[in-house]
Amino acid sequence: MTSGPITTQIHHDILVVTSNNPPVNALGLAVRRGLVAAIEEAEGNDAVKAVVIRCEGQTFFAGADVSEFGTPKAFEQMLPTVVDIIENCTKPVVAAIHGTALGGGLEVALASHYRVADKTAKFGVPEVKLGILPGAGGTQRLPRVAGVPLALEMATTGKMIGAKEASEAGLIDRIVEGDLLQHAVAMAEEVKDIRPLPKSSEKQDKVSGVDPSVFADFRKANARKFRGFDAPEANIQCIEAATAKPYAEGVQVERAKFMELMSGLQARAQQYFFFAERKAAKIDGIPEDTRPRTIAKVGVIGAGTMGGGISMNFLSAGIPVTIFEMNQEALDRGTGIMRKNYEATAAKGRMSADQVEQAMGLLTPTLDFAALADCDLIIEAVFEQMEIKKDIFTRLDATVKQGAILASNTSYLNIDEIAAVTKRPEDVVGLHFFSPANVMKLLEVVRGAKTAPDVLVTAMLLAKKIKKVAVVAGVCHGFIGNRMLMPRQVEATKLLLEGATPEQVDRVHVEFGMPMGPFQMADLAGVDIGWHRDPTRIENIRDALAAEGRWGQKKQAGFYDYDDKRRPSPSPRVQEIIDDFRAKSGVEKRDISDEEIVQRTLYTMVNEGAKILEEGMAQRASDIDVVWVYGYGWPVYRGGPMFWADSEGLQKIVDGLEAQESRMGSDFTFSKLLLDKAGNNEKFTR
Ligand code: CAA
Repeated sequence: MTSGPITTQIHHDILVVTSNNPPVNALGLAVRRGLVAAIEEAEGNDAVKAVVIRCEGQTFFAGADVSEFGTPKAFEQMLPTVVDIIENCTKPVVAAIHGTALGGGLEVALASHYRVADKTAKFGVPEVKLGILPGAGGTQRLPRVAGVPLALEMATTGKMIGAKEASEAGLIDRIVEGDLLQHAVAMAEEVKDIRPLPKSSEKQDKVSGVDPSVFADFRKANARKFRGFDAPEANIQCIEAATAKPYAEGVQVERAKFMELMSGLQARAQQYFFFAERKAAKIDGIPEDTRPRTIAKVGVIGAGTMGGGISMNFLSAGIPVTIFEMNQEALDRGTGIMRKNYEATAAKGRMSADQVEQAMGLLTPTLDFAALADCDLIIEAVFEQMEIKKDIFTRLDATVKQGAILASNTSYLNIDEIAAVTKRPEDVVGLHFFSPANVMKLLEVVRGAKTAPDVLVTAMLLAKKIKKVAVVAGVCHGFIGNRMLMPRQVEATKLLLEGATPEQVDRVHVEFGMPMGPFQMADLAGVDIGWHRDPTRIENIRDALAAEGRWGQKKQAGFYDYDDKRRPSPSPRVQEIIDDFRAKSGVEKRDISDEEIVQRTLYTMVNEGAKILEEGMAQRASDIDVVWVYGYGWPVYRGGPMFWADSEGLQKIVDGLEAQESRMGSDFTFSKLLLDKAGNNEKFTR
């Protein structure tokens, strides 16, 4: 039989059902219909004794088809019914799993009576990342099969587990190597006469007698991580229901919570973001057949915090790195910190001692600039000063083999000006990593006026290899992320003069869902960053703090005072400094509302984002959102600044900015794009 992407074939007395729905065998309507037709075929044919469900291509079903959400297709032949039909098949069904069995895919597997998996297969219910829950019986079957603790962890974090862990938890019956289909058919032959059929929905042992404190403890332990999100709590409540109610009632709880989440703004934001992240990897205006360059060896200039962090990304991905420094002491210090970071990861059990040695074994520290000559990519990560960068790129041009990519990790400077000192500006690109570079997922790939298409393609592919999310940015001061940070910082600081406190401004940002506010961020990053270093030149509050050595957390004093454990408290001295500046500048103190803080700091960011778009410095609005979610911790349940602005309504943003325009003075000008879109009742994102 063939029904859309589903075909069936009879191997002796086993019906093999194959899905071929590239790229990831998402469970779209045609697949769901085909699966039902296949089960009907098995039921209707006496010669069939058992069924195997398998997939062609890179993976077993990777879940529901997210692009169908919100469309009429999502309401036809719905997945909960399909999985019930599979489980209720009167002949044994064996799921043959390879790749990633995710979400609805794992639910199909759980509804099957037996599960055989390739040893490299992975399992997960990532729905929480889409703002929802496994709504095809997953919250009820998973704890019954794998136990409550693992189900809670998987459902609330979206974490994938490997075949070994899945097998230990009872999630799969057999791990196999080699020809998966052959193994699955063999298993189907073995079990074809066994009755009653083992049904996940009927298993009770792992959900009976579970102490309710398990859930309370889990909530408490993860309160920080789940802050602001709706989906983790809904997942917990469903799993709780699995332990407290019969299966039939549990699935009703699941359905109700699924519908509630699905109709909410958080799910829309998170599903939008799923596609935004994938779209970011696509580069406009370059030929589709552009082939990447080979990057077998990377050079890094500078073994400071950034250089070290950047190097670790490549080492962890198995790519050798030559790291250059000016003197032995700095080189030793830098490589020592890298080792310590790896060892700390190993101590947490996230890598083995062998892996630490493997990674460090790929590192070649050097004081000899010529050692960079045969690298395929060289990333400069030195002090943020144009003259120094130009000097380095002149030397690189003279030293490094032709065809190598020359990259700068600058966070603000003009890549075109840097490229112009070389005879190969087409090989020059910005690779702006975020600190700590070995941890933060974002990479801004700065496209210079002359950057060659294959350099860009290489950068995007390499980003994926080192597990970064890359976004293409144009050449402008601060690119996408830091450029949008500037108006926020300017207005936040002015708000202090006008009567707000650092605590109030930060609280508004944290309540909004940011990990920290602008002043907490300044204290963490260092109040002295970008400071002119002249303690007698005090032109603003930040200068005054820096001149007094209030450099932030590292000095236990910044916008806040810090105790030995780096716990912050409001600083009377900072308030004095603010009062003093206010008196000098003649600004009148007034009560500042939280709403004004949002308008002056977040609406101005949206306005700057719109300018970035209208100048073509970002390819699309969703790229700006990816930068802010991955680079600065913008709450993904609000989609990113541009999606958030759309959901607030652009006219509301314009009205808010107009209300504040006189207070912002010459620091602020409207983006024409924002005004036009608001006027036409349009959105940045669709
Ligand atoms: N629906 C629709 N499209 C999907 C998809 C899905 N579930 N998963 C992946 N795709 C698309 C991607 O958008 C991408 O498309 P483009 O090539 O057009 O950009 C393509 O498939 C390849 O995806 P990736 O670039 O992510 O490929 P990868 O090899 O890096 O990763 C993957 C593969 C691990 C499966 C990853 O795509 C992934 O994690 N997918 C999401 C899985 C998921 O969230 N499943 C749960 C769905 S919700 C659900 O199932 C609800 C329910 O219970 C009813």
